[in-house]
Amino acid sequence: MRFMTAEPFRIKMVERVKKTTKAERQQWLKEARYNAFQMKAENVYIDCITDSGTSAMSSEQWSALMLGDESYAGSKSFYKLEESVQDIFGMQFVQPTHQGRAADYIMARIYAKPGKYAIGNMHFDTFRGNAEVIGALAVDYVDDIGKDTASPPHPFKGNIDLKKMEKLISEKGAENISVVIITVTCNNNGGQPVSMQNIREVSALAKKHNIPVVIDAARLAENAYFIKQREEGYENKTIKEITREMFSYCETATMSSKKDGLVNIGGLFVTRNDEVLKVAQQLAIVHEGFITYGGLAGRDLEALAVGLQEGVDEQYLEYRINQVKYLGDRLKEKGVPIIEPTGGHGVYVDGRRFFPHIPQSEFPSQRLVVALYEEAGVRAVEIGACAFGAKDPLTGEDIFPEVEVMRIAVSRRVYTNSHMDVIANALGEIYQKREQYRGMKLVYEGPITSLRHFTAGFELFPQTNAVTIEV
Ligand code: F0G
Repeated sequence: MRFMTAEPFRIKMVERVKKTTKAERQQWLKEARYNAFQMKAENVYIDCITDSGTSAMSSEQWSALMLGDESYAGSKSFYKLEESVQDIFGMQFVQPTHQGRAADYIMARIYAKPGKYAIGNMHFDTFRGNAEVIGALAVDYVDDIGKDTASPPHPFKGNIDLKKMEKLISEKGAENISVVIITVTCNNNGGQPVSMQNIREVSALAKKHNIPVVIDAARLAENAYFIKQREEGYENKTIKEITREMFSYCETATMSSKKDGLVNIGGLFVTRNDEVLKVAQQLAIVHEGFITYGGLAGRDLEALAVGLQEGVDEQYLEYRINQVKYLGDRLKEKGVPIIEPTGGHGVYVDGRRFFPHIPQSEFPSQRLVVALYEEAGVRAVEIGACAFGAKDPLTGEDIFPEVEVMRIAVSRRVYTNSHMDVIANALGEIYQKREQYRGMKLVYEGPITSLRHFTAGFELFPQTNAVTIEV
């Protein structure tokens, strides 16, 4: 296979994307108040706002769709999905949901408790939102190296800091910690993986204190691939052997199957505890749909049953992880500061190192999102002062997050490396003239601060010596 370095698929269907002029893009940016979430997707040339629900499905998945059994109860498609999930997770009980956050909701209702702590490496927003509604205290205990976007490369920047976890348990008492949630890979700091050793040790510590462990498994296959590549003792294991071992350390897993499930919609709540299952099923019936479809059509269950298996295929994963690395390498060649090494589902550009003259209060990463769209029609997303900024409830002062980045999420099986070159070239040019850029002012935010990035409005401080490049 020495020469077989290209994509392990060929393209059977294409979707046209539009090339636009800089003047058009400037107008659309203004109309969207410089918020990527407010733009029309048809005006985007390369869309990297998310890797969620954006995968291209395979011919096998499209054929499976036709087999979808649209029965309310006991559909054939559910049992196919159940079998596929059991095979990969090694856990018995499966409740589908319409997407990941619905599984988060069920999980939070079961495992998050008012006034008690939920420890995580970095909780994803949708669990955090659910936990906060319940009154739980969601704390992020990723290793310090994972929080520092300028730290040197490390194979597992998604690991939980065991010392911090131990300290909280001894200070607050194990009875005040209701759950530990390990997110694989860790989305908020670069799609960084968690090692098997860390999952094992976190789980052992939790078990000693009778605290249940949950895995947020949106990107389980990418995490397993990194374990195979980087952790001693796993080089000869199959991806499925690795995923099964990962889940052997938890009681329950949730999954947004819009990522490594290679489908456009769907979620999973998976558990080995039949008491937990019973509660999850009740919550699913009220909020999602009957237990054998969970808010999805039979055809969605079929596509997911197949997609999960394709997602753990090693040849696919090799292509996937290497495409993200390819983009990271091109950016590094141009001096663009990124989180290193590149993670599973995207490249994260360090907003503070890119624009050192723009303070966090003026949204450097959001400014970069705007510049990238303006120059090349590429849409990325801010994970920084807008998305994770907050106001101190007592003093009203701004609190800024430690991670300040622009995430370029790479959709699965969708773009070629030529698209990656466009992104790298555009960012390289912006980097060369970075001093000309000034920050932005937040002029509108909705009532819920943790959701403000979706609807926020900005104004640009005027740029100096604007130079036009056309793509
Ligand atoms: N957990 C993680 C780790 C996620 O990244 C996401 C979604 C969810 C849960 C929620 O799943 O969207 O299916 O309801 N992440 C997307 C993103 C939105 O762009 O990173 P969902």
